[in-house]
Amino acid sequence: MSGMVNNAQAANEIIRAPLNEGLLGVSEAIVKVRELLLRLANSEITALINGESGTGKDIAARMLHKNSSRYGKPFIKVNCPAIPESILESELFGYERGAFTGARTSKPGRFELANHGTIFLDEIAETSYTVQGKLLQVLDGEPVMRIGGITPVSVDVRIVAATNIALEDAVRRGVVREDLYFRLSDVIVRMPPLRERREDIPLLLEHFNYNYSERLGKAYEPIAQDLIDEISQLDWIGNVRELGACVKKYVATGNPEALFPEAKPAPATQAEPREASSAPSPAASRVEAKSSDGKKFVPLKVATQRAVEETERALIEEALRHTLWNRRKAAKLLDISYSSLLRRIDAYQIGKEDAL
Ligand SMILES: Nc1ncnc2c1ncn2[C@@H]1O[C@H](COP(=O)(O)OP(=O)(O)OP(=O)(O)O)[C@@H](O)[C@H]1O
Ligand SMILES: [Mg+2]
Repeated sequence: MSGMVNNAQAANEIIRAPLNEGLLGVSEAIVKVRELLLRLANSEITALINGESGTGKDIAARMLHKNSSRYGKPFIKVNCPAIPESILESELFGYERGAFTGARTSKPGRFELANHGTIFLDEIAETSYTVQGKLLQVLDGEPVMRIGGITPVSVDVRIVAATNIALEDAVRRGVVREDLYFRLSDVIVRMPPLRERREDIPLLLEHFNYNYSERLGKAYEPIAQDLIDEISQLDWIGNVRELGACVKKYVATGNPEALFPEAKPAPATQAEPREASSAPSPAASRVEAKSSDGKKFVPLKVATQRAVEETERALIEEALRHTLWNRRKAAKLLDISYSSLLRRIDAYQIGKEDAL
């Protein structure tokens, strides 16, 4: 296989590297990303990290910080969609006492807390136009203004942003301001999906196998080669995160089936074959039900549940497509809470590929 490590020592180091500390891999694609990150680290250029979920955007952002002169100073991560829209602005920029009802004291924003360090704005496309406008000002070197404040606060912060959608599409849909896009698109670090660098899969498998064996107090035993070969063929829509989760389950249970995401139990009942939906999704293909003789009646409850699920799934996918995976906006369109949407995305295993 091309790109395989050329010596056992190097492979060993990768396998035994601690979890979550670096972008491991030997593929040309990941080597290039690592090099780019190291080159960028010490410049003050605003980097935008773009990649599917689970491709290592968090690690990449931390690498930029760790390898810069700002290391040792704060690294503040802001998971934009996790903070309610109404308070994101005050979280980021802070507020003065009396700025709004309930502001009994003043509070510094995350930009101030990150002073001399790095602020990591995760899922930046999932912010309101107002917040985007303010971010743009900071990106242009303007001082931060607390909400209700009259004195500008100058902060020295390196901004790293990440998004799991292509920003140019987000601009076209009106989800992201064009000026912010232009400002952020100078340097885009593209995180390659795992299926485009399959030669990294064997090493990552063993990396997780080794680490989770240690954590769970089990003897480390390399995974059989034929199993590794099979797993390397899979598309891993959840990328490295999904791979790691599967290996963890495998180590915990000792069951090789756990290494295959397809083996996950179906969310619904498996009594009858599913009708092929118009757009077969990865999740649907994971829900394989054995065909029976076809003459039996489906219990009404089962049929109803299935219909509800299929409708929900289709509507969620449509909303996500419409908002370019802006989950907060999709939740609003569907008139459900953000956390309820996240739970359903998880339960139905809706991947971005289904929706975009
Ligand atoms: N190249 C890699 N080497 C080792 N571990 C990795 C690599 N890429 C990702 N991981 C691991 O996979 C998991 C997911 O990575 P990370 O959180 O950085 O992804 P992400 O792109 O930020 O995903 P999301 O969009 O869902 O936030 C983490 O546990 C991370 O440590
Ligand atoms: Mg992340």
